[in-house]
Amino acid sequence: MAELSLHALKKRYGPLDILHGLDLDVRDGEFIVLVGPSGCGKSTLLRMIAGLDTVTSGELRIGGKRANDIAPQKRNIAMVFQSYALFPHMSVRENILYGPKVRGDDPKRTEERLKKAADILNLGPYLDRKPAQLSGGQRQRVAMGRAIMREPDLFLFDEPLSNLDAQLRMQMRTEIKALHQTLGSTIVYVTHDQIEAMTMADRIVVMNAGRIEQVGAPLELYDRPANVFVAGFLGSPPMNLLPARRGADGRLAMPDGTALPLPAPDGGEFLVGVRPERFRRAETGGLPLRVGVVEPTGAETHVFGTIGETPVRVVLAERIAAQRGDLLPLAVSPEHCHLFEAASGRRVERALAA
Ligand SMILES: Nc1ncnc2c1ncn2[C@@H]1O[C@H](COP(=O)(O)OP(=O)(O)OP(=O)(O)O)[C@@H](O)[C@H]1O
Ligand SMILES: [Mg+2]
Repeated sequence: MAELSLHALKKRYGPLDILHGLDLDVRDGEFIVLVGPSGCGKSTLLRMIAGLDTVTSGELRIGGKRANDIAPQKRNIAMVFQSYALFPHMSVRENILYGPKVRGDDPKRTEERLKKAADILNLGPYLDRKPAQLSGGQRQRVAMGRAIMREPDLFLFDEPLSNLDAQLRMQMRTEIKALHQTLGSTIVYVTHDQIEAMTMADRIVVMNAGRIEQVGAPLELYDRPANVFVAGFLGSPPMNLLPARRGADGRLAMPDGTALPLPAPDGGEFLVGVRPERFRRAETGGLPLRVGVVEPTGAETHVFGTIGETPVRVVLAERIAAQRGDLLPLAVSPEHCHLFEAASGRRVERALAA
């Protein structure tokens, strides 16, 4: 088992700075999910941890030991990639046993570990099949079986479920979580999937352009994003960000004069963040949403529209009969408003009493 720590970790490819000095401490047995836009450096970071890419500067520690210069095969890390690349001419058993065989592991011990891996992953019935005779999820489990065989201190997963359909993803998500509970290993898991991130992680690390924006428990990040980037990145559909400044009555108001339910702090321009599902219909007054598109999903109704010039997206739990061009008055409670400084994008802490 292993804790992992990054200290001022940087990566440069030629003249390009890719990672700008990352600091992160991962506890032994922790399940960390890394999220961020395409190209922000997630795979690069995993490859550095695995030893497949060099560290430009800073320090990488695994199990308390400096690992910058330790060879990949000595790090006791298993990495599962998006393309799980099984050998097509080998059976599942041969695929899983390939690594231990190449390493010259003791055959009896290897057989025991195979049995354990097959049990955990429910692969018993498929051991003599070829990869072509398996479903996507079963192939994914074989790839994971290979990883488990290493009995690693640390698992690295790079979008392992992105090739699977929605139902299989859900099933594999549960299996990976169970695997983590059974083995107690430390996991760093990259995904683009919000639900995966929210449901699997002990802590989520949000990256953007080679930097860490925020680290925290899923609901902590959801409820108190540290900046506009995290606010917009986590949550689907994303949080609305309404431009606002001090209005005549000392409260915040949008450019068209629509009053928001927050007192204006000192300073100039702000963004008020409201998650789409936090809006309610108001009887009268409220925020006048000019309806653009109405999308009933069955369980809820998504409404896209504008308040003044500002595009706004609303998710209502009820069904509504609104048409394009209608005015739909909305309400939102002050405790469901997030406040950010417009210039820096940083969260402004405020007293709840408004
Ligand atoms: N070998 C390389 N040489 C030069 N630049 C590279 C190299 N590998 C990656 N990069 C660049 O580093 C940046 C980070 O890439 P990386 O693959 O880590 O992104 P990512 O966050 O995993 O993205 P995605 O979500 O699309 O997988 C990108 O701008 C990429 O073009
Ligand atoms: Mg990647």
